[in-house]
Order: sequence, then C-alpha cells, then structure tokens
Amino acid sequence: MSLDETKSRKPHDRLAKALNGDLAAVDALIRERMSSENAPRIPEVTAHLVDAGGKRVRPMLTLAAARMFGYDGVDHHRLAATVEFIHTATLLHDDVVDESEQRRGRPTANLLWDNKSSVLVGDYLFARSFKLMVETGSLRVLDILSDAAATIAEGEVLQLTAAANLATTEEVYLKVVRGKTAALFASACEVGGIIASASEAQIAALRVYGDALGIAFQIADDLLDYGGDTTATGKNLGDDFRERKLTLPVIKAIARADADERAFWGRTIEKGQQTDGDFDHALSLIANHETMAATRDEALGWSTRAKDALDVLPDHELRDMMRDLATYVVARIN
Ligand code: IPE
Ligand code: IPE
Ligand code: MG
Ligand code: MG
Repeated sequence: MSLDETKSRKPHDRLAKALNGDLAAVDALIRERMSSENAPRIPEVTAHLVDAGGKRVRPMLTLAAARMFGYDGVDHHRLAATVEFIHTATLLHDDVVDESEQRRGRPTANLLWDNKSSVLVGDYLFARSFKLMVETGSLRVLDILSDAAATIAEGEVLQLTAAANLATTEEVYLKVVRGKTAALFASACEVGGIIASASEAQIAALRVYGDALGIAFQIADDLLDYGGDTTATGKNLGDDFRERKLTLPVIKAIARADADERAFWGRTIEKGQQTDGDFDHALSLIANHETMAATRDEALGWSTRAKDALDVLPDHELRDMMRDLATYVVARIN
C-alpha cells in the first residue's frame, strides 16, 4: 500500500490496523463473555449486534490510550471489552427507547425479537461488563466506568424529558450529549491511561479529549439524522424527527424560524402531528445554509478542543491517529 493510500484510509481503520492483535484479543473476550448456557436468547441477540461489526471506536480508544504509554499487560483488553459491552447494552436499550428499526445496517433486535429481549439482554451485558472490569482489580477504574454507566442513563432520561419541548436550550442539549455519548468516550480514554500509569496531567488530558470527541461525534450524528447517507451510517434517516427530539440542528433552526416555520415545528415536534412530507420540509429548513453551517461549526469547535488536549500526550503514531479521528468525525458531515 502506498503512503497516500495509508493516509487516505479512515482513521478508525488505521487505528484498527495498528491495534490489530489487541482488537482480536478483545473480540475473543467479548465472544467468550457474551455466551450464556442458561438462556440461549442472550448470545443470539448479542451475536446479532456483535457480528454486524460496529466501528469499535471506544475500545480502540482504550487500547490506544494504554499502548501509547507502552502498556503491555492484559487489563487493556478487559477494559476495552468492558467499554464495548457497555456500548452494546446502551444500543440495545436505546433502540427500544427510540423505537428504531435499523442499526449497523441490520434490523434492530427490538424489531427481530422484541423490546423485552432487548431490555433484558442489555441488562445482562451491563452486568457482564461489571464483572470484566472487576477483574482488573482497580477500584479507580471501577469508579470511573460505573459512573459512566450511570451518566449515560442520566443523559438518556434527560433527553426523554426534554423531547417535544421547543424551549429546550443548547445548554440542555449539551448536557444530554455529554451524558449519553461523551461520558463513555471520556472514560474509555481515561481508563486506558490509568492502567498504563500515565501522569495525572495526561490522564486528565485523555478525559478532556474523549469528552470533546464524544460531543463532536454526537453533534455530527445528529446532523446526519437529517440527511446522512443511510448506507454509510447503517441507520434510518429521520428517527430524531419522528421521536420529536430537540437535537442541535432543530434547536438552531427553531431559533432562526419565522412565524410559519415556528408553527411547523410546533405542530410536528411539540404536538407530534406529523404527516407525509413533513420530514422533507424539516430537511429543507435544516438545510438552510446557516443552520447547517452553525451546527457544523459547533462540532468543529469540539473537534479542535479534542485535538488540543492531545498535546501533553506522548509523541506516538497512535496519538496522531487519535488526532485524525477528531478531524474525521466532523469531516464526515462536510
Ligand atoms: C452509535 O455509536 C451511538 C452514538 C453515540 C451515536 P457508534 O457510531 O460508535 O456505533 P457503532 O458501534 O459503530 O455501531
Ligand atoms: C446514542 O443516542 C445512544 C447512546 C449513546 C446511548 P442516539 O439515539 O442519538 O444514537 P443513534 O442515532 O440511535 O445511534
Ligand atoms: Mg437512538
Ligand atoms: Mg437515543
């Protein structure tokens, strides 16, 4: 492969290549721990999601954060698997809550089986994740990841209660996003540094990086819900609109709305009276140049914050890939 091809490859693909052996070990651990002899429905549902892939961004961040400090034990595998288990559990629950029909390019588990299976298997995966992190013997790591699990749930519940409320501010949105998405990114990075005995300043920087990356990532994801390429995202368009969620593109569009547009958002989001053609109209309002640009700018600001935080980390190819990842999560919405 030429240098150009290496450079043009997506940063998470390059991370996957650099962390190849570690990722294989993490995958083996995930498969070993998702089995259940007592309830075959558990591995069935889990395998449906795990086999569909997923980018494995969070576990790669844990592995990269540990490896850049020369870590060569086995706890980074346990923690990376823990993080992916927590992520998978939240996806199972999230697709029930959002009544989503597509995930990772496949029908969701709630559609193929039912909500009950998704909720209960999600619970099982959460419990498995706790057992895995206990095996590291680090109370500090346990503290961080159990906090992250609670914070994700808080973010999801806050989002639930803010839905359909046109008065939702960007501040509330940021709180939701920090909770439901950035908390796991931040913790995934942080615990990698901790087991590798990084300095406190470096551990703090890893957390700042993960938090900012997670926020940029979720803002981008929310914009893609209004016009992304479904083949690339593996998810339906318009889920957020149908669920009457006040994501950043909508909050900004409402702030700029004239009386007619306000009435439109009031009917579709606040009252939930949606008919054919409404999503297309919402798309056209969001596509309004300034709304798109302002949302993208917000994501770009967080991406820059993420990259700046990396300055105190060791000069390492994995750090460079983490920097490129922060560029990429925003570039995919350009
Ligand atoms: C999806 O995360 C959930 C969000 C925070 C938007 P990813 O886009 O990382 O999902 P997978 O694991 O690659 O499917
Ligand atoms: C992401 O939330 C799920 C969690 C982080 C718990 P969303 O509902 O916005 O993400 P997608 O679009 O379903 O992946
Ligand atoms: Mg969802
Ligand atoms: Mg959701």
